[in-house]
Amino acid sequence: MSTARIFDLSGKVALVTGASSGLGVRFAEVLAENGASIVLVARRSDRLTGVKARIEQAGGHAVAVEADVRDRAAMAAAFDAAEKAFGTVTILINNAGVAHSGRAVELAEEEWRRVLSTDLDAVFYWSQEAGRRMLAAGKGGAIVNIASVLGLGVDKGVVAYATAKAGVIQLTKALALELAFKGIRVNAIAPGWIVTELNRGYLESERGKALTREIPVGRFGQERDLDGPLLLLVSDAGRFVTGATIVVDGGQSVALRG
Ligand SMILES: NC(=O)c1ccc[n+]([C@@H]2O[C@H](COP(=O)([O-])OP(=O)(O)OC[C@H]3O[C@@H](n4cnc5c(N)ncnc54)[C@H](OP(=O)(O)O)[C@@H]3O)[C@@H](O)[C@H]2O)c1
Repeated sequence: MSTARIFDLSGKVALVTGASSGLGVRFAEVLAENGASIVLVARRSDRLTGVKARIEQAGGHAVAVEADVRDRAAMAAAFDAAEKAFGTVTILINNAGVAHSGRAVELAEEEWRRVLSTDLDAVFYWSQEAGRRMLAAGKGGAIVNIASVLGLGVDKGVVAYATAKAGVIQLTKALALELAFKGIRVNAIAPGWIVTELNRGYLESERGKALTREIPVGRFGQERDLDGPLLLLVSDAGRFVTGATIVVDGGQSVALRG
């Protein structure tokens, strides 16, 4: 294969969780642009329909499957729908996630469970399901888990989120080790602040802008800053990369806080 084609995803089937907004939409569009058929998963089906239409207008192929990632029956149905439409899922992007804010001593049990079940438990179950199906089909594959720099270092008020994301990084390594010899690679991306529709208001406020002082490159990330790392991890370009976590944060996590 010529090096110009090492990012080509033709013939691959990629399932993206949390594909109804923010980074998940971008991931789905980038994977489609590079040749993969896309399975879009989230709870807001109206949003998924819009993303599917945009991918198809651009010449790609996509199906939308409404599912809550915490629902194991819905998960199995999503993989079934993917197989019916395109064949075995060979790329899984575990992107769906929820955040919270609040001090640990005040955190309600339901809030802890909501974050851990979405941001960690679901990453395990969807990876397990994808892995089982890839093995049964005798196919290799690539799983990419979206962690966070808060899985590496912590801040106040994010105990459940940071714990879940740290778990995702460790889970990535454990799965990579068990699946490597079967041709399934498992990696993670740990983004720093990336501007999306949800956090734009805050990040562009005076208080938010002050945060850029902690980022060596001097700005927040943009969705397209993740395109390269994503494509590397899912394509032949990253064929010897497994168990890794790529930090994409403009240097934020290596800088000492003043
Ligand atoms: N943006 C950042 O600065 C940043 C930094 C580090 C890490 N991350 C991580 O990147 C990922 C995407 O974040 P984002 O910024 O794009 O946030 P977002 O715009 O809020 O998107 C979150 C996505 O997750 C989906 N989701 C949440 N709970 C779900 C559930 N129970 N079942 C199915 N889908 C669910 C949402 O869809 P529905 O509501 O339609 O279900 C939505 O599509 C998350 O894992 C987040 O932790 C983001």
